[in-house]
Amino acid sequence: MTAESLTLLGLETSCDETAAAVLRRHGDGRVEVLSSIIASQIAEHAPYGGVVPEIAARSHVESIDAIAAEAMAGAGIGYGDLSGIAATAGPGLVGGVMVGLSFGKAVALARNLPLVAVNHLEGHAVSARLAADIPYPFLLLLVSGGHCQLLTVDGIGACHRMGSTIDDAAGEAFDKIAKTLGLPYPGGPALERLAAEGDASGITLPRALLGREGCDFSFSGLKTAAARLAEAVTDEAGRRNLAAAVQVAIARQLTERTDRAMVTYRAAHPGETLRFVVAGGVAANRHVRERLQATATARGFSFDAPPLVYCTDNAAMIALAGAERLALGLTDGLDAPARPRWPLDTASAAANPTHTPGRKGAKA
Ligand code: KG4
Ligand code: ZN
Repeated sequence: MTAESLTLLGLETSCDETAAAVLRRHGDGRVEVLSSIIASQIAEHAPYGGVVPEIAARSHVESIDAIAAEAMAGAGIGYGDLSGIAATAGPGLVGGVMVGLSFGKAVALARNLPLVAVNHLEGHAVSARLAADIPYPFLLLLVSGGHCQLLTVDGIGACHRMGSTIDDAAGEAFDKIAKTLGLPYPGGPALERLAAEGDASGITLPRALLGREGCDFSFSGLKTAAARLAEAVTDEAGRRNLAAAVQVAIARQLTERTDRAMVTYRAAHPGETLRFVVAGGVAANRHVRERLQATATARGFSFDAPPLVYCTDNAAMIALAGAERLALGLTDGLDAPARPRWPLDTASAAANPTHTPGRKGAKA
């Protein structure tokens, strides 16, 4: 590993956020986010109740120049001060991925800088390391709008999948159920706000995969049951209570499956410090965080989650994954493809393919 300090421009355009960030990774591994700009397209997609790929791609094209310039200006540096460019190369909506990746390639070519084609999931995997010193290895729960996976993270480029969703991602379940409750897109944060005053105790929802071997997830039964209950709800108190019950049910499944993964992880790491990290948009949910923290404590794991701004999509995490790769000499050619699908753990994804459909496309 090099001991020199590295400064990278990170670019993220895989879904509905156009993001750019400048990050410095010091020789001792210390990380400084010099700027992190996120332009959300929520308002453009909201009328359609979800992300429209063509609108997303066009919007990325329109704003990437300005967002990257803003990130550079915010960091107070010029392109000549950069050590490399890190751009998300997938998985995600491929029209959008191509925008950020092509922009990154153009800058790399023009400035003769190394390019790192970053897996968006690897960005989420390292995101907690933006704000805290969390050494490898750790157990990771990655819960976002497109993904729900438990992974052992041994280092950069060394993630091993322990389980993943067999139908919807957790964030997708939040979003779809929120829609049936008449909440605006994106539903997760709106459902959390509605749930705050609710009482979950009187509502029974299905407990998918309870007691089942392994660490896979399933949210489709919960989604169907919640949709049926939502139709029958007539008043505001009923909506609040249902939102609270859904939040409890999603958090319960996440903790039950994570608890199993912790037992397996602990057996595989005897005598080691046990670390647990939760990342991705759903990690922004306070109840989910609290339940996972309690589970980690009960199993003797430390608990970390990125600050809220780094839970949802951002370019600082892409820049960090890029910096960690660059420090190891891992760079990519200008022919690096934009990939709609790109599992982090190719071996286990091939051996045990799971199905992750949904509004954002099959990102896993
Ligand atoms: O990581 P992210 O920004 O995008 C993906 O890579 O998918 O995650 C977005 C997802 C959405 O499904 C959103 O509803 C969910 O994270 N989310 C939340 C909360 N904030 C974001 N879900 C529940 N509670 C929240 N507070
Ligand atoms: Zn994401």
